[in-house]
Amino acid sequence: MTFFRRKSFDELMATTQEKKLTKALGAMDITLMGLGIIIGTGIFVLTGIGAAKYAGPALMLSFILAGVTCAFVCLAYSELASFLPVAGSSYTYAYASLGEIFGWWVGWSLILEYSVGASAVAGGWSAYFVGILHSCGIDLPKALTMVPADGGIVNLPAAAVVLLATLLLVIGVRESARVNKILVFIKIGTIFIFLFFAAPHIDPVNWDPFLPFGWKGVTAGTAVLFFAYLGFDALSTAAEETKNPKRDMPIGIISALTICTILYIAVCATMTGVVPYQMLNTAAPASYVLEYIGMHAGSAIVGTGALCGLSTVVLMMLFAQSRALYSMSRDGLMPMSLYKVHSKFHTPYKIQIIVGILVACITGFTPIQIVAETCSAGTIFAFLCSCVGIIVLRRIYPDKPRAFRCPAVHIIAPLGFIFCAFIFTQLSWHTLALFVFWSILGLIIYVAYGHKHSVINNHPEV
Ligand code: ALA
Repeated sequence: MTFFRRKSFDELMATTQEKKLTKALGAMDITLMGLGIIIGTGIFVLTGIGAAKYAGPALMLSFILAGVTCAFVCLAYSELASFLPVAGSSYTYAYASLGEIFGWWVGWSLILEYSVGASAVAGGWSAYFVGILHSCGIDLPKALTMVPADGGIVNLPAAAVVLLATLLLVIGVRESARVNKILVFIKIGTIFIFLFFAAPHIDPVNWDPFLPFGWKGVTAGTAVLFFAYLGFDALSTAAEETKNPKRDMPIGIISALTICTILYIAVCATMTGVVPYQMLNTAAPASYVLEYIGMHAGSAIVGTGALCGLSTVVLMMLFAQSRALYSMSRDGLMPMSLYKVHSKFHTPYKIQIIVGILVACITGFTPIQIVAETCSAGTIFAFLCSCVGIIVLRRIYPDKPRAFRCPAVHIIAPLGFIFCAFIFTQLSWHTLALFVFWSILGLIIYVAYGHKHSVINNHPEV
């Protein structure tokens, strides 16, 4: 069945020999890119709602459950990224291990994670931006800050931040990494400021009852805040632009995930320890907590940190989307005319610009927040395929060198699969229905276009 034809290791590695993208990134850059893409809406927005509506103080356990799941998957990704340092991430791994149709399906699902994710985060960015301007006495007209479904004309700030990030990404990966670095330091600094001022006000009485919604609340909370962990997989899309991917990729991915998990649990423990969880039902919980303890400059500080934080998430998601589509067009599954690297900037500018315009239109004109949870569905599906893929690749290529080997892979990968499958079942039915719809649409496009134009299907002798 040609649908299940795999791309071989040599075919995959040959594509990277073209050396079109600049190798500009080191382990530190990868870690900072990880912090850039992972820490955002999850911590600055979802924590409050997660505690108030789903898990109460036990949201800490939801963070731990999601963190442990991601740790299993992260070990698998680290091996896959060091074994196949090819742009495209999960798409590439699925193509090499499970065959073309799964490669396509994962690549198609990643559009949910990166493009829908970037659109949703840009919407959150706009809300923070409008709020900060409002506190400075400047009110932008509603027509220019709301999508038509909410009574406006266009969400201009959201579209503008997407277009600005696109411009930066077209100019260069090194420049983007530099801007990302500055914004990440501000974002992490803000989180430390929050912890420094709020933690002394923790009153353990607020952690009692610890499980007001029972264990069901903990697992439901995990499904909701899984969004907070999205992005670490995207780091492996940068493999072709990393100086020493076999070493830098695993270091970067594991460090970023570890730092995020520690920060998430610390912030969650502090929020629920300072304020009774019922009061955290707000879109800006960190600001609320600082206000609650009388630190009125808190909103401004946290708001600035959140703006920086959400900017880096948008930047890195747009980056990851372009690299995944770059790989798919290189393989012929998307139009090959998109597979073009700028002669001066060495970035896939055509795809980057198209992605930027599409995401700007989605965030500017549609109420995308409603379907934001589908990002998690698409990502978890990619994680599931990667957990299977790593075992398949060990079987097919047992002797190929791997700079990083996932320890106890026959335990870790199945555990990753089981944990991800469990979280998948905890997503709301409307999210799952949307994911099924998106998958069917993708499979129709694959049969009608991708399969016919696929490079390996047009070179059967390779
Ligand atoms: N993990 C990213 C965030 O929380 C997507 O915004």
